[in-house]
Amino acid sequence: MALLEIIKNPAKVLETKASAIVQFDNELAKLLDDMYETMLENDGVGIAAPQVDKSIQAAVVELGEERDLLELINPVIVEVSEDTGVDIEGCLSFPDLYGDVERPLYIKVQAQDRNGELYELEAYDFDARVIQHEVDHLHGILFDKKIIKTYTLKEIEEMYAEEDEEQ
Ligand code: CO
Repeated sequence: MALLEIIKNPAKVLETKASAIVQFDNELAKLLDDMYETMLENDGVGIAAPQVDKSIQAAVVELGEERDLLELINPVIVEVSEDTGVDIEGCLSFPDLYGDVERPLYIKVQAQDRNGELYELEAYDFDARVIQHEVDHLHGILFDKKIIKTYTLKEIEEMYAEEDEEQ
């Protein structure tokens, strides 16, 4: 595996709708492995192919407390709840930006894995948020446009420090 360079905003590839994947080959498998390693190295919970300069519909995310790896190839969100929630998001392509984003609390997504196998998944709360953030990337939609309240890095650090004290 290899670490990939993360493309930082602003960049055209980040604002371009990514192409559908039709070839499920070793090249794709290697890219997914490298994306996963790059995400872990940078303490991310999700990364989309445009963030490593590939304009194709692939993303990897970690889900749940077990931090299970999920590969999203050609994902389509087919259902969202009316209920929404607001929570803080960050993005590997925006190193110093954190902000509140409102999103549906439940989604159903259809996607393929690295072998082209179709699957359907229901996700809630934080998992649903991460998937929506990554699917947005594949449509060239960046989270900065969705932020309703921005936090400084100092405010974020203070928030996490308070959480640690409570535990
Ligand atoms: Co992002």
